[in-house]
Formats: sequence, C-alpha cells, structure tokens
Amino acid sequence: MSESILSVLDETRVFQPPYNDRTAFQSMADLQAIQQEFSENFEEKWRQLAEQNLQWRKPFSVVLNESKAPFYTWFEDGALNLSENCIDRHVQQGLGDRTAIIWEGEPGDVRRISYQQLLDEVCRAANGMKQLGIESGDRVVIYMPMIPEAAITMLACTRIGAIHSVVFGAFSSHALRERIHDAGAKLVVTADGGYRRGAVHALKPKVDEALECNCDTIEHVLVVKRGENPVDWQAGRDVEWRALLDAQPAQCEALALNAEHPLFILYTSGSTGKPKGIVHSTAGYLLWAHLTMTYSFDFRPAEDVFWCTADVGWITGHTYSVYGPLSNGGTTLMYEGVPTYPDAGRLWKLCEDHAVSVFYTAPTAIRALIKAGDAWPEKYDLSRLRVLGTVGEPINPEAWMWYHRVIGQDRCPIVDTWWQTETGGHMLVPMPFAVPTKPGSAALPLPGIYAAVVDQEGEPVTEGGGLLVITRPWPSMLRGIWGDDQRYIDTYWRKFNHRYYFAGDGARIDQDGYFWIMGRVDDVLNVSGHRLGSMEIESALVSHPAVAEAAVVGRPDELKGEAVYAFVVLKQPATENLKSELLKHVTQEIGAIARPDDIHFAENLPKTRSGKIMRRLLRDIAAGRDITSDTSTLEDQQVIQQLRDQP
Ligand code: WT7
Repeated sequence: MSESILSVLDETRVFQPPYNDRTAFQSMADLQAIQQEFSENFEEKWRQLAEQNLQWRKPFSVVLNESKAPFYTWFEDGALNLSENCIDRHVQQGLGDRTAIIWEGEPGDVRRISYQQLLDEVCRAANGMKQLGIESGDRVVIYMPMIPEAAITMLACTRIGAIHSVVFGAFSSHALRERIHDAGAKLVVTADGGYRRGAVHALKPKVDEALECNCDTIEHVLVVKRGENPVDWQAGRDVEWRALLDAQPAQCEALALNAEHPLFILYTSGSTGKPKGIVHSTAGYLLWAHLTMTYSFDFRPAEDVFWCTADVGWITGHTYSVYGPLSNGGTTLMYEGVPTYPDAGRLWKLCEDHAVSVFYTAPTAIRALIKAGDAWPEKYDLSRLRVLGTVGEPINPEAWMWYHRVIGQDRCPIVDTWWQTETGGHMLVPMPFAVPTKPGSAALPLPGIYAAVVDQEGEPVTEGGGLLVITRPWPSMLRGIWGDDQRYIDTYWRKFNHRYYFAGDGARIDQDGYFWIMGRVDDVLNVSGHRLGSMEIESALVSHPAVAEAAVVGRPDELKGEAVYAFVVLKQPATENLKSELLKHVTQEIGAIARPDDIHFAENLPKTRSGKIMRRLLRDIAAGRDITSDTSTLEDQQVIQQLRDQP
C-alpha cells in the first residue's frame, strides 16, 4: 500500500458543498430523491432520461435487455446519430454561432470553432472518408496530436457509422501496429506532427513504420498538416487532409444508426500481455456522457467554458473533451501542448485567457504544479473557475487541499471522479453542490449507479477493504472486448458469477457510505493516471535478446503516483550500456510512458513452488520496505537476500 493511501485511511476532514440555488441537485436529499426514483422503477427512470436528453431518429421501446447477459443492451430498437446529437441539434436550435471548440496550440495560436463551422467541417471530413471507401462498421484509427481535427475526425466517423479507435500519440509504432491489426482498420488519420515542448513531435513517420507489416487492412492514410514537418507521401495510399476536405460539400447526411451500433474501440491495458479493445455503443455511451456533465460538473452550456486537460487518446478525452460538452451544446477547450511549457503557469494562463469555469485534470498534474510553487497560479486571474475535477488515480489529501485552497480559492467544490475506460463515464462522484467532500474520497455513486465493496465471495464488507463492484448494469457500460467475447466474460464477470461487474480496484466504504479507492488489485500499474499492464512491459523487456526473464511492479512515487520498477534476469553479464538500451527498447515497443524508472538486475526472481512470480514481495523490495507478504510459499528463500544485496 502506498503512503498516500495510508494517509487517506485516517483522513477525517469534511467540506460542506457550497450553496448554489441554480443547480438541479442542491443537497443530499436531492441526490437521495433521484436514487429513490431509480430504485422504484429503474428502467422507467432510464427511459425518461434517454427520451429527454437525446434526439432519436427512431424511438426505442426496450430500455434494458438482460437476456444475453453479461452482453447487456440498452435502448436496442432505437436509432439515432451521435454527430447529429452533438452538433446538428444545437445548430437547429439557433446556436450555430456559439463556440463549440476553443483550441490553443502550444506556440499560442488560437482557433475558435462555432457549432456551424464544426458541422460544415465534420460533414466535409465524413464525405472525404466516404470517398476513401469508408462505410458504416469500418474501423478508423486516429493517431493525432490534440488538434481540432482529432475531434472532427471522431465526429465524422460517428456521422457515417465508422468505428473510431484513437491511439494516443505517444504510443510507439509497435503499439500502433498492434492496435491497427487487432481492430482490422481500413484508414489511419494522422498528422505530420504536433507541438511538444517547443518542437514538433513527428507522427507520420511512426505511422509509416507501423504499416510496414501486419496492417494489410489499411487502404489509406489521411494526413493533417499541423507542424510544417516534412511528410514522406506514399502515392496511392496517403492523402492530404485539406486537399481532400476542400473538394467536399459541407453537407453530409447523418446515418440513423442502431442504439447498439459500436461507437468506438479504445485500447487499454489489462493484467495479461495484450491490450484490450474496449467497445462502447452509441446511445448508452452518449446518454451517460451527456448526463454526467450536469451531474458531476453542474455544467451550464450557455455560460461555462469547460476544460478537460486529457488527451483524446484516453477515455477521459473522449467523454469529457469531446462528446460530453458537445452533446450539451457547450464550449470545450482543447490545448495541444505540454502543461508546463513554456513555464509552470501555462495551465493557469489558459484558464485566465479563455475564462475557464469548469476545470478537470489528473492528480499527477496537480502534484507537479504544487512543486512549481504557488507563485504561478497567483499570477493569473482564476476567478472564473467554479467547479474543479480530478480523475485517474486516488488523489492524496494534501494535493486535494492545495487544489481546493490555491486553485479553487476555497470557493470551488472538488469533484473526485472514479471511473474507467470500461464504464464510459463517471461512476463515483461527490456531486458538486449536493454532496459534502472528503479529501481523497470519490464519495458516492451517481444517480442510477449501484456500487458496492465486497469480499472474495461477493458478500458486502462493512469494515476494512474489499473489491469494488458495480451491481446493476448502466447505459454506458462497455459492450465487450473487440474480437474476444471470452476475455470480456473472464475479466469482468467470471469472478462474481456474472452477478456483478468486477472493476479490478480495491476500495473501502466508510461509516457515511463514502467510497475510498485503494488502487488496482490486479497487475495493472497506474502511472501518472495512465493504466499500464505489468505483463505488457515484461513482454517488451523479454523480447530483448539479452533478457531471460522480467518482472515489473509499481513503486510509490511522489509525482507519478506509481513508477515502473523492473526486475530483470539477464542471459549473460550486463554490458555497460545495457540499462539504457533496455529503456530504449521498451520505449520502442510500447512508448515512453511505459519506460521503467528503475531497472534492477537480479540473479533470480522470487517464485512460488508452482512457478508464479511473487509480485507482492517484489513491490516491497522496490519500495524499500520490510517484506509484508507471506514468504512461506517461496521456493528459494535465498532469493530475497540476493535481491536486497544487489539493488
Ligand atoms: C483506473 C481506470 C477513467 C479515466 C482515467 C483512467 C483508477 C480512475 C480514479 C479516482 C482513484 C481512480 C482506477 C481505475 N482511477 N479514477 N478518481 N480515484 N482511482 O481510466 O485508464 O481506464 O483507468 O484508474 O484504478 O480502475 P483507465
């Protein structure tokens, strides 16, 4: 258990929600009242919400179909179009001039895109993709920097029923290839590059490299020119974005798609080697993206400027940089670059310059900015901020307090949102003007969400920790793992006999019913709010010729939450540059985010008699603590001493 979690366990501070008479949920009683409505008639309540908040082409009659559980479906006989819900319906209501996207590039260039302009551009992009042969159901991989074209491409896919799969731009060409291959994608949309720390980080060469093998399904590569980087155009395959779009009409019929039509695939790490393609559906996902904007952020589309700092390569970027704010007809801010470039005041400057009122970021960013000192936020006018959110990992109470005091000026509620790629949107959240907050706790399930902490047998635990489960289906739940139904069942449903969704997190419930997340219970690391599979990094290490065996664990880290710590057994004695070579190798295989912070050359790894690596023991060694785990099953007791002697 990391130190931050230990300090969370004896956290007792409670902050009352600020009074706000304009919000739908003003007190715990309001939350309890809607929960009560759900409990009395679960499906009826979801029916009302889906009818009132989405624009349907064909109304649905079935709310939830459980007959193929755990392959649940929602609103399954309805039809709608996501881009129409996110754009056209606002334009039809006369909001065409409202700003949909404010974008700022790292060098400081700004673009404001109105809903009308967004509609035109999305239509051109959709028509362009059709011209490249993309049809409903085809997969489109998006490998882009944070530029408006990333959001435009996502929306254009939804307009014609193409299934997008965004791959984070910092992933390597190997990782990109693996995802293109798994998804069987027909098109890659990319850019020459994007600005990072003052220079253009090239993307197109990584696409070229990825497509060298195992990507036969790819027919075209569509390239946005962002950074004046030279592009090696491959005739017949590569197409330039502007040239393609300028030749298209700005109208494109939005396809009426079934509610369950796959909307996107997003790859995330699991406890085994291969990333899982999490599949989300159209209507259920959109409904929850839409509603949680109000529930969690009290979002007011006509007046707020919403900024979620996540890259669209992650689920947070999908739901809260793009779909949630736009579905509500609001204004979302996108920023291209590094948060500390050119200095540690950049985020706060962006907040001032664009009058950001709802700000959503990760604890790791907060911790880095605390280190930079209070003088940076104090230089800027943050008076427009009214709600602050965090996501991705447990927030340590001290970081919470700083966020509350220095950024929120004791005025803004802090919403600590617990959720996952798989849940599509928020699950546990202290609703900002209704629920008292406790630093480090994600508080309570949102309306319509049913969560519990149970023991290994699925029985609720009241004292101490247990496993976090979701006990009833919800509209934005994942629909499966792309191409692997069995893995979907095994990962999320087998553990509790298909009764509960198993989240993979440990948690505790306190006397007020508040949830305290204690981190993953599987072999998944959380590095700077990003999920990394230890087996994935191990496979990358083992694929290097010098490595015989590897075990990767997380080590508590003040800034990143967890750091990657690798134990490596070599085939022959280490050469001088081997460590740096291995680091480079992991970066090539997965990406810089997976690069170990420490490599520990070991003679042997501690294993049980049945040959399983004892990761818990390795975690203790990595953290430099006393061994807390039971070592009686350890095959060779000397291994511990050896590991301690040769750090
Ligand atoms: C895992 C999901 C969902 C967006 C970002 C990450 C951890 C997420 C919190 C939080 C404590 C959190 C969990 C979860 N996590 N939010 N507020 N408090 N832990 O998405 O990559 O799918 O990772 O992130 O361990 O299972 P993801």
